[in-house]
Amino acid sequence: MAYQNIIFTMEGEIAIIKINRPKAMNAINLDVINETNAALSQIEAEGKAKVLILTGEGEKAFVAGADIAQMSTLTPLAALDFSQKGQELMFQLERLPIPVIACVNGYALGGGNELAMACDFIYASENAKFGQPEINLGLIPGFGGTQRLARLVGKTKAKEMCLTGEIINASEAKEIGLVNKVFPTDKLWAETLKTAQLMAGKGRVMLRAIKRCIDRGYDVDRQTGCYMEADSFGLTMASPDAQEGMSAFLEKRKPEFKGKLV
Ligand code: CAA
Repeated sequence: MAYQNIIFTMEGEIAIIKINRPKAMNAINLDVINETNAALSQIEAEGKAKVLILTGEGEKAFVAGADIAQMSTLTPLAALDFSQKGQELMFQLERLPIPVIACVNGYALGGGNELAMACDFIYASENAKFGQPEINLGLIPGFGGTQRLARLVGKTKAKEMCLTGEIINASEAKEIGLVNKVFPTDKLWAETLKTAQLMAGKGRVMLRAIKRCIDRGYDVDRQTGCYMEADSFGLTMASPDAQEGMSAFLEKRKPEFKGKLV
């Protein structure tokens, strides 16, 4: 598929998706949803990437939200459909069997903050800004923001952000646990790539199992989550990379993970 609203590239084993509508602050319209959806399916089908970095083109915005011009034309039923399509994209990111880093280089507002939160963790530049300002448009978050924000930063902080529409800066976002690390703007990309490369050097089976255990375990009770972890731990043992990792330790050498599933 030829992409017009995103830029999809590979750098070794690292896939990179840039939302590419800088004139509209990379706002998410239906085309962005469909193309990102297709790129994620392509990543999964090809099975070459071990990590994905999701970012926005330009320095002003990661994504400044859902496209307000497009939303203003929607009937209630079309809005429901738009919300569900956006939510499904967020779930697709969570289901992707490789880690995803959101590299937030500017505004991450509304649907942009929701997109970043659907990634496995967020790295941000010092000039990044985060918020759920939908209430100022007479709307509410529609791509899972009320749910993911509460789980990430706690109910009361999520309520404060969504109910006031207040925009917070990168250091506040780090303080409340929304962002993992903040870098000077000119270092953000290199630092994100460094972490992506670190993870790409690990075994594919382990990356997938850890992501799945944490995500799936988060929404069930602790005992059920631990059963899932034990099952995954057992299955992981069957992978060549598990044998290689433990043998390398015992032989006092560096492991060479092949990333094969079986
Ligand atoms: N949708 C469509 N276009 C947008 C946009 C958005 N979310 N955000 C910015 N743009 C467009 C502007 O309309 C403007 O276009 P023109 O040049 O054609 O006029 C261009 O991007 C540049 O924006 P500004 O001139 O406003 O730039 P600024 O630097 O003064 O302000 C900003 C930047 C603070 C991000 C401001 O643009 C803004 O507040 N944007 C809207 C943020 C927002 O409310 N997001 C939530 C959307 S609703 C949502 O996301 C619902 C959901 O959960 C599904």
